[in-house]
Amino acid sequence: MRKAVETCREQVPDRNTRGHGAQSHRGAAFLKLAVFLLFAFLLAVPALAPAQAQPTSNPVASESPADGHVPGNTLGTASDADLWRAVRQGVAGNVSIPDKKAGTLVQSEGELWRSLRNGPVALYSSWALIGMIVLLALFFALRGRIRIDHGRSGATITRFAGYERFGHWLLALSFLTLAVTGLNIMYGRYVLLPIIGGEAFGFITLMGKYLHNYLAFAFMAGLVMIFLMWVRHNLPDRTDLVWLAKGGGIFVKGSHPPAKKFNAGQKAIFWLVILLGLSLSVSGWALLFPFTTDFFSGTFAAVNAVFGTDLPTALAPIQEQQLNSLWHSVVAVALTCVILAHIYIGSVGMEGAFDAMGSGEVDLNWAKEHHSIWVEEVTAGERGPAGAPQAAE
Ligand code: HEM
Repeated sequence: MRKAVETCREQVPDRNTRGHGAQSHRGAAFLKLAVFLLFAFLLAVPALAPAQAQPTSNPVASESPADGHVPGNTLGTASDADLWRAVRQGVAGNVSIPDKKAGTLVQSEGELWRSLRNGPVALYSSWALIGMIVLLALFFALRGRIRIDHGRSGATITRFAGYERFGHWLLALSFLTLAVTGLNIMYGRYVLLPIIGGEAFGFITLMGKYLHNYLAFAFMAGLVMIFLMWVRHNLPDRTDLVWLAKGGGIFVKGSHPPAKKFNAGQKAIFWLVILLGLSLSVSGWALLFPFTTDFFSGTFAAVNAVFGTDLPTALAPIQEQQLNSLWHSVVAVALTCVILAHIYIGSVGMEGAFDAMGSGEVDLNWAKEHHSIWVEEVTAGERGPAGAPQAAE
């Protein structure tokens, strides 16, 4: 560059030796000098840049490590293969920031989580949901709507009080919203996105995520309510065995095994809702408040103690989150399958059933056919002096 400047100086006439007309050429000469200097500078900068900023295309091939130094001199004079191998295998280093999890640069279980979630979990879940819908459609095609065999009597009996229906619909509506928004998180990008486009999908998914976060609390409240209201009616007893032995009278027209307030099928739904709902709530809580729980380490330790298994109990916080996420999806799909069957039988599948959760009043003939022992219990308590049932009209 200095040479270029000197060359340039030689070309510029000396101030003392310039003759007439030199004045008029002075501006042009300075301009030329400036342009020249600019080009010289631009050409010189890359040449002056530090060598390590321009790695050779293949340092190993172009330099021989004859002296034991790492070719290219990019990592100092020592090979860091061991260091990077340890990092790749998830070894945690130390960091000075409060979030100590940042000390783990590569967490391979994250890749496992991703491939399980987007692979088998998503695939088998979709089969389970579609399978349940197909099964219910087949059942409807073969059995048709379960009618009130004796027709509507015109008299009704109170099946569920207002607070019971409130608890049910709090649970039901929050669950349905959680199910739809949750399924969108899992499948929306494959199903909705191509149809409605990125902008609408982004908006819907964001709103869905807010709903999913906040309605989780309504679901938990509904779950506690129905547990407290109905647990005593859902304890198994001998009538359930008879009911189950007769297949609930569902498959054969006109056969109705005796049942109390809830029959064995409903008791099964109740306990599935309570247990899967609890598991869903716990894993959902762990996802809502990440890195504050270690449910899986604790559960695995208990399972090991009981069954003598060897499940890992020293799980990293991020592994806890990954297991929570997988478990939450699996349990949510299982409960959705159960609820699809429940919605079917509580609406199109059985004449007169919806009234129980609609107005709370069911037809007396429906009640006698499906819950004969319960009708006896209720009417015995309400029997007037003449012994006639005082069912509401
Ligand atoms: C549109 C959705 C739904 C409809 C139409 C519906 C309908 C009904 C009906 C009619 C009953 C009363 C049955 C009877 O008289 O014996 C009932 C009970 C019940 N529902 Fe729902 N329900 C729905 C959603 C849900 C959801 C999402 C849950 C839980 C997450 C749920 C949990 C229960 C439970 C535990 C019972 C008591 C046990 C039983 O009858 O199976 N329901 N539902």
